Amino acid sequence: MRFGPAILERADALAAITERPGMLARSYLTPQHRQAGERIRGWMREAGMQAEFDALGNVVGRYEGTNPRAPAVLTGSHMDTVVDAGKYDGLFGVLAPIACVADLHARGKRLPFPLEVVAFGDEEGVRFGTSMMGSKALAGRLDAAVLELKDAAGVTVREALAAFGGDAGALAGLRRSRDAIRLYVETHIEQGPVLLEEGLAVGVVTSIAGSSRARVGVRGEAGHAGTVPMAMRRDALAAACEMVLALERHCRASSGRVVGTVGKLAVAQGGAINVIPGDVEFTIDVRSGEDALRRAAVAAIEAALREVAAARGVALEWTPLQELAAAPCDPAEQERLAAAIQAHDLPVRRLPSGAGHDAMQFAGLVPIAMLFVRCGNGGISHNPRETLAVEDAEVATAVLMRYLESLG
Ligand code: GLV
Ligand code: MN
Ligand code: MN
Repeated sequence: MRFGPAILERADALAAITERPGMLARSYLTPQHRQAGERIRGWMREAGMQAEFDALGNVVGRYEGTNPRAPAVLTGSHMDTVVDAGKYDGLFGVLAPIACVADLHARGKRLPFPLEVVAFGDEEGVRFGTSMMGSKALAGRLDAAVLELKDAAGVTVREALAAFGGDAGALAGLRRSRDAIRLYVETHIEQGPVLLEEGLAVGVVTSIAGSSRARVGVRGEAGHAGTVPMAMRRDALAAACEMVLALERHCRASSGRVVGTVGKLAVAQGGAINVIPGDVEFTIDVRSGEDALRRAAVAAIEAALREVAAARGVALEWTPLQELAAAPCDPAEQERLAAAIQAHDLPVRRLPSGAGHDAMQFAGLVPIAMLFVRCGNGGISHNPRETLAVEDAEVATAVLMRYLESLG
């Protein structure tokens, strides 16, 4: 095998770089981000690329083409992770193209265009609540207001960036002009069971679902757990529980076309066993392949939450965090990926992505393409039980290599 074993070995090495002992957790602008980025930068240089951290902490590697003035092909994915993550989410899309470049370099081959591999510093959005800051910046879609967002400890993006050695002032300069990029292609594990169930190693992504995110504050009244009669309580947590179930009910009724998640919920100060919760915050993440459906669902969910709040005598604060439109993959590039798959004597399976990816940020700017690789273990991801078979890493990287070489 040309690619698979080294890619899995590197994913293991990166999984050891974590903020939390016993699990993989690596968020944006942390010392572990720096350390992982340095390893990746080293591998990029070994593969024959020029590679550096940019002002936002993305690692950008460039392999010059025979025509350095031709628009660059961009590829990559993210190096941050969720808390208690799997090893391949994001990283596969960084390690596979590095392996391709190493292979080209070893063969003494240059493509007719420069190839850039980007390891984005923030895609998951775990630390600051907004996601894909790296790819948004390169696409010219990062609003400078995000610099003032705070993490759980009250540290702003601007402060974290300064401590990391980045440069908030250089943000606007990261924007790539549309003319300088030919296309963006990303490889990623599927994070679902479709390819696994159909016995296929790879698939072509047709589109990426859009998402809406919001933070909800529920303000009731704290009180003594032993003395306040049940009918007189304004319990923020009991209200929040009803709200979570209202969101779930709404999304379940959409016949699979909308999904919604409350992934974080906290009682102020962590709560106490003998105090009626007065203040609760939770997050909302709603996704759909259809933008109109998603927007309608979010409006209906907000209305349902306001009804619960009114009935329970609590106040509701709804803060929108992010709106990402669904992103269709370019039909011609889907065909080109399909041809690369067929050249390996494999059937072509097209499928949409329910998960978000950095590729979304480039949609509408340049053609985007995505190749999915089968996720083992029932297709589980955002979970340490996520797996990737070495044979599948091999096939997906070989398909990516063929795709890149077919871009004349
Ligand atoms: C990224 O993993 C996302 O889809 O939230
Ligand atoms: Mn993820
Ligand atoms: Mn990912």
